[in-house]
Amino acid sequence: MYNYNLSEEKTKEKSSMKNSISERVNRIGVSSTMKVAAEAKKMKAKGIPVIDLSVGEPDFPTPQNIKDAAIKAILENQTKYTLNNGTVELRKAIASKLLNDNGLEYSIEDIIVSNGAKQSLFNAVHTLVYNDDEVIIPAPYWVSYPEMVTLAHGKSIIVETKLENGFKITPDELKNAITPKTKVLILCNPSNPTGSAYTRGELEAIAEISEEENFYIISDEIYEKLLYDNFEFVSFPSLSEEMKKRTVLINGVSKSHAMTGWRIGYAAGPEEVIKGINKIQSHSTSNASSVSQAAAVEALIGPQGALEEMRTEFEKRRNYMYDELISINGIKCYKPEGAFYLFPDITAFFNKSTEVIRISDSFDLSMYLLYEAKIAAVPGSSFGSEGFIRFSYATSMENIKEAMVRIKEALEKLK
Ligand SMILES: Cc1ncc(COP(=O)(O)O)c(C=O)c1O
Repeated sequence: MYNYNLSEEKTKEKSSMKNSISERVNRIGVSSTMKVAAEAKKMKAKGIPVIDLSVGEPDFPTPQNIKDAAIKAILENQTKYTLNNGTVELRKAIASKLLNDNGLEYSIEDIIVSNGAKQSLFNAVHTLVYNDDEVIIPAPYWVSYPEMVTLAHGKSIIVETKLENGFKITPDELKNAITPKTKVLILCNPSNPTGSAYTRGELEAIAEISEEENFYIISDEIYEKLLYDNFEFVSFPSLSEEMKKRTVLINGVSKSHAMTGWRIGYAAGPEEVIKGINKIQSHSTSNASSVSQAAAVEALIGPQGALEEMRTEFEKRRNYMYDELISINGIKCYKPEGAFYLFPDITAFFNKSTEVIRISDSFDLSMYLLYEAKIAAVPGSSFGSEGFIRFSYATSMENIKEAMVRIKEALEKLK
């Protein structure tokens, strides 16, 4: 039997070594998505049959043609440093992807390849933000955005969005958050953790405000290829020439091509920003892996059939899980347009108990589901939105079916 030592869990992330660790690092916490995953892994190692719905990566293998391209690159000794900003071949492949998919024309000098989209984002934030510059981040947000801003000595202005609005920031919410110090808006479209995606009209409204108020957009489009019900994706910089000048587009192959471990992401944007990112990268990691870059060329210019197969499977899972979730008494859920997450409102279970636990927040509920139902999920508080929980459907349909039975049973025990 596990003991539900929740208060200890809640305080664990604070470092006790305050004096030896820099103030800057003390200001940030360990990613709580990783904390739940680590606890779930520990339980699995003990033979406990945990179903992991906390995952942030496709459960499919990387398509064979991409693996073959990597093997070929190794055999051809493409194993040296590449240009800091990525190979010409890969930047050409990215430029043609952006043109064909998004109608965007970028020169390969305005594109930089990084070790995953996360590094592109980190470097973009560091290039644009310093010394109390304000960054508007709609919540729920991807866990790393505010921490990146903190590390850059900036200030996150968190704007709470509403389930009724599909968790999308409205023009009024955005306007209310703007001050003379506003430097950047970080937009995650489609979103992790909510899966919601912006329509062209919604993006145009944001674009208008960004032009009036003169701030940059960092547009994280890493889930672009995972959209359902024929939802039309619009890349933010494609809205107008003006938006292209003030947007840093972030994308990569991690989620689209099941390549999370290969660590290839990229940024495309205004010349001066990409130059800044290039400088930071040249003094931190240098180029992304040469072999992974060769694989990413194949991912972008090779056959794309596997993408549609994965997308179709994700759509089936979304539909199933959504229908099951909303059939549970007390659960409210937005039906997301994309990504591979559902983000239900679970406040109906607050102040309910079993003999061993009383649920007072989303962390309690995720720990309860982990220990009682053997289901790993991430509390909404990790994404800046208390009252919600994130379930990922990047796992097999068989697991999802079993998980939904267990979740229902566990929630019914709460009185
Ligand atoms: C919204 C969002 N942006 C960026 C990333 C990072 O992607 P990568 O694995 O390419 O670094 C993730 C990964 O979870 C994500 O969910």
